[in-house]
Amino acid sequence: MERGNLRERLRVRLFGEQILLSIRYGDWVNVDNEDFAKNWARYWKAEIQGYVHAYRAATGVDLTAADATRRVNAINRERGEALRARLVERIRRFRAGLAAVGLAAGGGLSPVQNLEIPAGLDAVVVTAGVFATQDELEADAALTEKLLRIDFSNTVLFCEAAKKVLLQDGGGTLCVFSSVAGERGRKPVIIYGAAKAGLTRYLEGLDHKHRAEGLRVITVKPGFVKTSMTAGMEPPPFAGEPDAVARRVLRAIDRGTPVVYAPALWWLIMAVIRALPRSIMRRINF
Ligand SMILES: NC(=O)c1ccc[n+]([C@@H]2O[C@H](COP(=O)([O-])OP(=O)(O)OC[C@H]3O[C@@H](n4cnc5c(N)ncnc54)[C@H](OP(=O)(O)O)[C@@H]3O)[C@@H](O)[C@H]2O)c1
Repeated sequence: MERGNLRERLRVRLFGEQILLSIRYGDWVNVDNEDFAKNWARYWKAEIQGYVHAYRAATGVDLTAADATRRVNAINRERGEALRARLVERIRRFRAGLAAVGLAAGGGLSPVQNLEIPAGLDAVVVTAGVFATQDELEADAALTEKLLRIDFSNTVLFCEAAKKVLLQDGGGTLCVFSSVAGERGRKPVIIYGAAKAGLTRYLEGLDHKHRAEGLRVITVKPGFVKTSMTAGMEPPPFAGEPDAVARRVLRAIDRGTPVVYAPALWWLIMAVIRALPRSIMRRINF
């Protein structure tokens, strides 16, 4: 698979799917209201622009151009069956979608184990996770149990299910978001960090065991990224933007890089933190 293409194809598929689902969600067959359509377009503007941009990058066709339909038709006529055959081959090789999977389920054997993950996937990307401060977790055992379940045990169970499906098809990519918080025992993130540390080690083991069978396990270790998870927190000067982090992760997926720090500077920060003696870790609040 050509480098760079995966990212654009992924973006076309993801944005396309989001837009399609948003249309399906509203009762569009029965709605005949101009304001409804305008509001929809306003609300989904970012995804629509993202789709148009990714489509242009992937195909060379600008959907906003006045002659876009004519150009798409012309390309189709020109390349005819050959194009169709290539598209079918591409779709066969690369399918992407979004799935909402509840990881909070508990009570004995988790239902996460019985999830039906469709066969024929090339990559599974797990971004789900929750965060709570150390103070909040120390004050609430139920919250602690829930965070450990979502960030560790149910994520591992989900990965176990996904891994089996990927391996049945000869391999693929399992990309999972862990955290730099799992690199070292740190006062502000002891419990969250422990869950992510466990997840990181689990993913490392998977990589060791299954790489030769074609399973590429990518462990993402974000530092501070400005997302809804960190909303309201004071961002450090080296905080990352979600888009840049996503680009870095997609590059790692393309290349099969087993561990990726995002933003990249966090590799250096954590190398320093890992090297600090305990006597210093006890004194600092990082
Ligand atoms: N942002 C950072 O600075 C940072 C740093 C280190 C690591 N990370 C890790 O990076 C990953 C992505 O985080 P983010 O910053 O994008 O956070 P986010 O904006 O809060 O997104 C977290 C995602 O997890 C999903 N989620 C939460 N609880 C879930 C559950 N019980 N079952 C299934 N899905 C659930 C959320 O789904 P809904 O939208 O449906 O709630 C959301 O899509 C997480 O694993 C996080 O731990 C983030």
